[in-house]
Amino acid sequence: MTEIDFVPSAYTADREEGSVTWQAPSNIALIKYWGKRGNQIPANPSLSFTLNKCLTTTTVSYKKLSSRSDNFSFDLLFDDLPKEDFKPKIKSFFVKIEEYMPFLKDYHFLINTSNTFPHSSGIASSASGMAALALCLMDIERVLNLSADEDFFKRKASFLARLGSGSACRSIDGEIITWGIHKAIATSSDLYAVKYSDEVHKVFKNYRDTILLVHKGQKQVSSTLGHNLMHNHPFAAQRFNQAHENLVKLKSVLASGDLEGFVAIVEQEALTLHAMMMTSSPYFVLMMPNTLKIINAIWDFRKASKTHLCFTLDAGANVHLLYPKNEAAEVLQFIKDELVVYCENGQYICDEIGIGAKKL
Ligand code: DP6
Repeated sequence: MTEIDFVPSAYTADREEGSVTWQAPSNIALIKYWGKRGNQIPANPSLSFTLNKCLTTTTVSYKKLSSRSDNFSFDLLFDDLPKEDFKPKIKSFFVKIEEYMPFLKDYHFLINTSNTFPHSSGIASSASGMAALALCLMDIERVLNLSADEDFFKRKASFLARLGSGSACRSIDGEIITWGIHKAIATSSDLYAVKYSDEVHKVFKNYRDTILLVHKGQKQVSSTLGHNLMHNHPFAAQRFNQAHENLVKLKSVLASGDLEGFVAIVEQEALTLHAMMMTSSPYFVLMMPNTLKIINAIWDFRKASKTHLCFTLDAGANVHLLYPKNEAAEVLQFIKDELVVYCENGQYICDEIGIGAKKL
């Protein structure tokens, strides 16, 4: 498919007003997306687990304008209160997707959004937020164009969400998702994410992700800025190759259930992501002293307990702890005994693999 396939032909139906609500999850990348070109095209393929409890719920109410407007007409509420500082991001999202959603200037929209996870907890709300909004808009388009089938609906929602925030395209479906062309994944695309449909060992069913909130404040460097620093990065080419190779390795690990292999790939990806940040120009560090203390404690615990607890990191100081369901009791005790002290206000979130977004 190409971009043109997402431009709709003339709408066949009309609707004066209505309202739709979608709930979309966050996701955690195992193979990291870091670096992009052109219009949100990833520099390398990524693979993620969809989460289950870190969710954004968005309601979009729409009302037809008396005549088509020259600008986008919308109001934005966050937790039922007006949120002016989120509006520029939504406006630039509308600009990027207008070509694919020509009805946008025919309506006034009231967008009401809320998260299940604490505000500015350092958990990417852009992934779940853009995914929930893209799904609401797709639902409105479905009313105007009755012919879209379920696969196309999800694919275009992912395509739109990607234009809002790259990792958001992986927050439509569950449970394991890939985005970006890879020779070993037949249906893979740079334009949208797809459900991972190769063999997955049962040990990865209900895999856990406990997110330790190390630092809840604003990050010093946004992801978008960090991605741009991969242009002319001295190690960019090697990194992009490594992501391709790690995806091949992860494919056989996912099929066989080799948890040692899983730990090695996931932790290497996390540390390479941060190594890229530390070696870009300008360089920056998003890990905090407590991030490193947690990593060292995990390594000691893994050795002593013979469990398969491992960590991954996003573009921030928080640590995601990944482990199989049958090790949950032992790992949770370890978190309470040894890791909670490193969390801001002792806060952490217990999540697990989820099945994707749903309409409410
Ligand atoms: C480190 O999707 O937040 O979490 O496309 O600029 O919105 P933009 O960036 P974003 O980048 C996420 C990067 C990451 C790795 C990942 O999720 O794959």
